[in-house]
Amino acid sequence: MSDRPGRRIAVGITGASGALYAVRSVAALLASGCQVELVVSDFGRRLLREELGEAAAIEVLSEYLATRYGDGVRAGTLTLHSNRDVGASIASGSYACEAMAIVPCSMKTLAGVAHGLSRTLIERAADVMLKERRRLVLVPRETPMSLPQLRNMVASAEAGAVVLPAMPAFYQGPRSLDDLADFMAGKILGALGFSHELYPPWAG
Ligand SMILES: Cc1cc2nc3c(=O)[nH]c(=O)nc-3n(C[C@H](O)[C@H](O)[C@H](O)COP(=O)(O)O)c2cc1C
Repeated sequence: MSDRPGRRIAVGITGASGALYAVRSVAALLASGCQVELVVSDFGRRLLREELGEAAAIEVLSEYLATRYGDGVRAGTLTLHSNRDVGASIASGSYACEAMAIVPCSMKTLAGVAHGLSRTLIERAADVMLKERRRLVLVPRETPMSLPQLRNMVASAEAGAVVLPAMPAFYQGPRSLDDLADFMAGKILGALGFSHELYPPWAG
C-alpha cells in the first residue's frame, strides 16, 4: 500500500453472502492506515458469525482481523457505529468521510440506497456520499436478479454510485477462497481510490 495515511472511509456490512469480502476489504483499508468507520446491520452481524465463525463476531472483529491478516491491520483505526444511530458522525455531510463501500450489499439495502430512504445509518451514510458527490461503492450479491433489483442497481449508478457486483474473476489463477476474496477486495479498494497489491495486474 502506498497511499497517504489517515484517510477516513466508511464501510457498511449487510446481510448478503460474502463476509470474506468484507473482512478482507476492511483489513486492507486498515493496513493502509485508514480510519475505518464501520457499520454492520443485524443480518450483517449474523453473516459474520455464520460464514466466518464466532471468532469473527463484531465484538472481537479487530482481533480476528489481526489474527487472520497480520499485525499490519493495526496501522489503521476501526470505529464501530450502531446501524440504528442515524445521528452518528457519518450521517452528516459535514463529517469529513471521503468514501464508502457497502460490502456485501443486500438487495434490501440496495433498494434503500437506490430510493434514498435513509432508514438506517448504512443507508443514511450512503445517501450522504451521493448528495455530497463522494465515492460510494456498492457490492451487491444475488443471483439470479429480479427486474426491481436490476433497476435498483441502475438507479444507484445513475445517482453516482459505483456498482461493483461480487463477481470474482478466475484469470489470475486463484487457488483458494482467500485468493478470490483478495480479488474482490482489490477491486473495491481500487474503486475507493487506493492502490493495492491484492492481485497481480493483467500483464497482457
Ligand atoms: C443465510 C442468509 C443468506 C442471505 N443471502 C443473501 C444474499 O446473498 N443477498 C441478498 O441480497 N440477501 C441475502 N439474504 C437476505 C438478507 O439478509 C435480508 O434481506 C435482510 O433483511 C437484509 O438486511 P440488511 O440489508 O439490513 O442486512 C440472506 C439471508 C440469510 C439469512
